[in-house]
Amino acid sequence: MKKSQYLAITVALIAGSVQAYAQKGDAAKGKAVFEQCSVCHNADSAEQKMGPGLKGLYKVAKLKSTGKAPTDATVGGKIDEGGNGMPAYKDMLNAKEKADLLAYLHTL
Ligand code: HEC
Repeated sequence: MKKSQYLAITVALIAGSVQAYAQKGDAAKGKAVFEQCSVCHNADSAEQKMGPGLKGLYKVAKLKSTGKAPTDATVGGKIDEGGNGMPAYKDMLNAKEKADLLAYLHTL
């Protein structure tokens, strides 16, 4: 095999693994992850349960908890850190589960 072919294959492999890392969430799988959240959160209404209802989460101007605009960074940060009665999920969800969960929350 020519050197240039090796190079092309190496580049393709690296590109493939980078893409796998920055994977997009799967909302259907995120719905399953959300089951552990639903004890405290409504997904089908904005009504308070233990925590705020999450319907329309990404459509509100400000999050109830932090007063910040809802983005994957602010919502993901709240899920990571928890606080005020919300458990911290930083070490409980892996990157894939978190990406799936955020994709699902976008559909609410
Ligand atoms: C034991 C109950 C409980 C569980 C389980 C729980 N939360 Fe919460 N959550 C809360 C409470 C209480 C708040 C309000 C915290 C605050 O005001 O700072 C909250 C706040 C939030 C917020 C911010 C909403 C807003 O409008 O500011 C998001 C997003 C959220 N939770 C997502 C989740 C997700 C996703 C899960 C599952 C991985 C989860 N929560 C599991 C109790 C819970």
